[in-house]
Amino acid sequence: MNKLTIAIDGHSSTGKSTLAKELAAVLGYIYVDSGAMYRAVALEALRKGWVSKEQGIQEENIINALEFLKITFSVNPQGQSITMLNNENVENAIRTMEVSDVVSQVSKLIPVRRRLVALQQKMGEKGGVVIDGRDIGTVVFPKADLKIFMTASDKVRASRRKAELDSKGQNYSINEVLENLKSRDKFDMERIDSPLIAASDARTLDNSKMNKEEQFNLVLGWIHELKD
Ligand code: DC
Repeated sequence: MNKLTIAIDGHSSTGKSTLAKELAAVLGYIYVDSGAMYRAVALEALRKGWVSKEQGIQEENIINALEFLKITFSVNPQGQSITMLNNENVENAIRTMEVSDVVSQVSKLIPVRRRLVALQQKMGEKGGVVIDGRDIGTVVFPKADLKIFMTASDKVRASRRKAELDSKGQNYSINEVLENLKSRDKFDMERIDSPLIAASDARTLDNSKMNKEEQFNLVLGWIHELKD
C-alpha cells in the first residue's frame, strides 16, 4: 500500500496534534509537530531576551541565530514524540503560556518560516507522514494526499486548552486562555506570509460536537477511501 502524506491544519487547540499522533501510531507513520518547531525557536528567543509580550521582538538576533539552532524530534520509551532543541529535551518548556504568548511574533518572520518549512519538507520527503500545523496543506506539502482543516467553537477550544494547562499545574482563567487562542489565530490568519487558511482541497473537520473516537473513525474512513 502507498504511504500517504497527511496534512492537518487548523485553529489553535482544535486537537490537531492529538489526531495526528493517533493516526501516525495506527498507520505506522512518522509524526511531525510543526508547531513545536516554531515554539522551540520562540523558547530560544525568550531565553535570550529577544522577544517579550510587552517589548516585542528583536528580529535580527533571532534570524542570525537560526543557523545555530538544531531542532529535532526523538521518541521516548512510551513512544511519545519529544521536541529537542540543540539536543536538550524542551518538550515541556515549549508548552508554557509564556511561549504561547510570543510564538506568533516569532512565526511571522519569513526567514524563520523558510528554515522550518525546509526542515519539515525534509522530514516528510519519503511520505508515510502525518504533520500538523497552519500552512501544511498550503505551503509545506501542497500535494499532500489528504488535507484536513480542523476547527471547533471558541468555548470548546478554550476549555480543552485550560484542562491541558491545569493538568500541568499552570493555572489560568478561561478568559486568559481564550484571549491567547483568539489572538494567536488572528495573528496567524492575518500574517502576510503563509497565513492560516484552509487549502481549497482540504476537508473541514469541526469537532465541537464530536468525541475523539467519532473523529478518529471519520478520518480513518477518509484514509481508507484514498487507499482503496
Ligand atoms: O500548533 P501550535 O499551537 O503548537 O503552534 C504554535 C504556533 O506556531 C501557532 O500559534 C502558530 C505557529 N505555527 C505556524 O505559524 N505554522 C505552523 N505550521 C505551525 C505553527
